[in-house]
Amino acid sequence: KRLVILISGRGSNMEAILRSDLPVVVAAVISNEPDARGLEIARAHGIATAVVPHRSYPDREAFERALAEAIDRHAPDLVVLAGFMRVLTAGFVQRYRGRLVNIHPSLLPAFPGLHTHRRVLEAGVRIHGCTVHYVTESLDHGPIIIQAAVPVLPDDDEERLAARVLAQEHRIYPQAIRWIVEGRLRLVEGRVEVAGAKV
Ligand code: GRF
Repeated sequence: KRLVILISGRGSNMEAILRSDLPVVVAAVISNEPDARGLEIARAHGIATAVVPHRSYPDREAFERALAEAIDRHAPDLVVLAGFMRVLTAGFVQRYRGRLVNIHPSLLPAFPGLHTHRRVLEAGVRIHGCTVHYVTESLDHGPIIIQAAVPVLPDDDEERLAARVLAQEHRIYPQAIRWIVEGRLRLVEGRVEVAGAKV
């Protein structure tokens, strides 16, 4: 199976996928940020990279047209959002329906959006985590594939908590992709179907 990974920055989730022994070809890594550190990591792994700089386009639709072209050139079976920081329109999401996944650093549906670790600490919740989900039209929602939970410890700050969650992200993202590419899990009528059973 062919993957295209979209990033905007550090690329540690992308790297976890590249380092995994998944039965996939990562056809390309595409960033909307020209200086994304993850681009260098991808190149070091011999992966083709491309930049579609959102600021160079007059509007979101024009950016997404260019992005879709850059993706479709590689004919991916799965498009993996890994710290990709642009909101995608319904049109874009529909184009890749069932082939578009994202990782979010919270136990969705709790704490969608940005700065999840800070907001978790402010809220005083004791369990936090991360979620891999199919992308649908509503931001940070969409059928959940896998989650991992971590404790929020009394002396946590944002950085410590983020690191604890990130370690789990690096574990569950390759796991989710494995289930999908092995055909054990797919999106059917807006629900995740696991080996014949709806969950
Ligand atoms: C991760 O925490 C991911 O869940 C969130 O953005 C961060 C990206 O980190 N969407 P990296 O670029 O994968 O290192």
